[in-house]
Amino acid sequence: MLPYPDQDKVADVLSRLGRLPPLVTSWEVERLKSELAEAQRGERFLLQGGDCAERFDECNSELIAKKLKILMQMSLVLLYGLKKPLVRVGRIAGQYAKPRSTDTETRDGVTLPTFRGDLINKAGFTPEERTPDPELMLVGYQRASLTLNFIRALVDSGFADLHHPEYWDMDFASHSSLEQEYRRIVSSISDSMDFFESISGRSIHQTTRVAMFTSHEGLHLPYEQAQTRYIPRWERWYNLATHFPWIGVRTGDLDGAHVEYFRGISNPLGIKVGPRMTGESLQKLLAVLNPLNEPGRITLIHRFGVGQIEKKLPSLIRAVQATGSPVLWCCDPMHGNTEITADGVKTRRFDNILDELEMSFEIHGSTDSHLGGVHFEMTGEDVTECTGGARGLTDADLARSYKSQVDPRLNYEQALELAMRITGKNFRSAASQDS
Ligand code: PEP
Ligand code: CO
Repeated sequence: MLPYPDQDKVADVLSRLGRLPPLVTSWEVERLKSELAEAQRGERFLLQGGDCAERFDECNSELIAKKLKILMQMSLVLLYGLKKPLVRVGRIAGQYAKPRSTDTETRDGVTLPTFRGDLINKAGFTPEERTPDPELMLVGYQRASLTLNFIRALVDSGFADLHHPEYWDMDFASHSSLEQEYRRIVSSISDSMDFFESISGRSIHQTTRVAMFTSHEGLHLPYEQAQTRYIPRWERWYNLATHFPWIGVRTGDLDGAHVEYFRGISNPLGIKVGPRMTGESLQKLLAVLNPLNEPGRITLIHRFGVGQIEKKLPSLIRAVQATGSPVLWCCDPMHGNTEITADGVKTRRFDNILDELEMSFEIHGSTDSHLGGVHFEMTGEDVTECTGGARGLTDADLARSYKSQVDPRLNYEQALELAMRITGKNFRSAASQDS
């Protein structure tokens, strides 16, 4: 447990949190699990993305709508290119806690606890702001609930209706090279919808309304536990703060508290798989976290970096195959490709991200496996945090609009470009091997 100065206050907050209604239902969680099971079988494709860390002060209509829009646009492009339905999952409505590699941060000779995300402490560099405050868990729950409420309202009122993809238009700068291709895809999908409706004589409005699920790293166990409920209908426990919690690379120890917690809930689980994971430990994790080999339960999100993937991934795929346990493989091409510029700014290069993705499709394709999803840190805003992409952002551009407090995200054009490149010529053979 983090060093909260006042343990009575922590206990009080957790008991209040535990009495508040859940953010999601077990029915939705089970629906997601069955969609992920379909993705395991190659019948769907998982798109998971959003901020590295959401911020409490960014819980507003404009930014939430932009996040939803970019996810919708990417999923539309993937649907068009891969010819299979998507599972859409945001890193949203609860992605407020961050693992850090060091406990303290020193600036100008002053050492304070590191910033661990808005759920735990504040980003400002004063002792008051950096002291963990349990009340922030209640604020986090409220922000998550406001975010999810707005997403649900947007989806219910037709914003995410495939029949009206024009709602999801971004304010493309007029010289964007992606704009034309995106518009071509949108109009082609709209035409197909119109054609279907005119020959069938019925509206496909309802059936094409998309589902949108939430996910976050299940890092801060007191918070996660307070929202964990026993559901008599299923006779099982669920984390109802999110549909899809994942275990980060730093908390995947077999004997650790996180694995112990995740073992007891019935949600579908993501497991981040990094370069330090061995085949044997992955096999043991699967045995502990999915002893009954339940389809849809486990998504392995690998994040090796472009320099390590060829060396690490094949043996892990074989280790999983040897267990016979069903998993969905998903590629996070962000976290292994983080680097620091000469000016000390954290960034990621678009080409490395693209290369890791491409290698992932190839490696899975050549080991009798398949890549069934992608996981991105991205935003619907025009930030400058990752370099490269169609506009050729350089290190010098990073200062212009760098907003992330933690990891660098793809901006909306880079995110959309990635989706287009996945379905493009170079990727097509690999991506279609799994159907
Ligand atoms: C993250 O997804 O933001 C993260 C910290 O990832 P990982 O656990 O893979 O480093
Ligand atoms: Co991150």
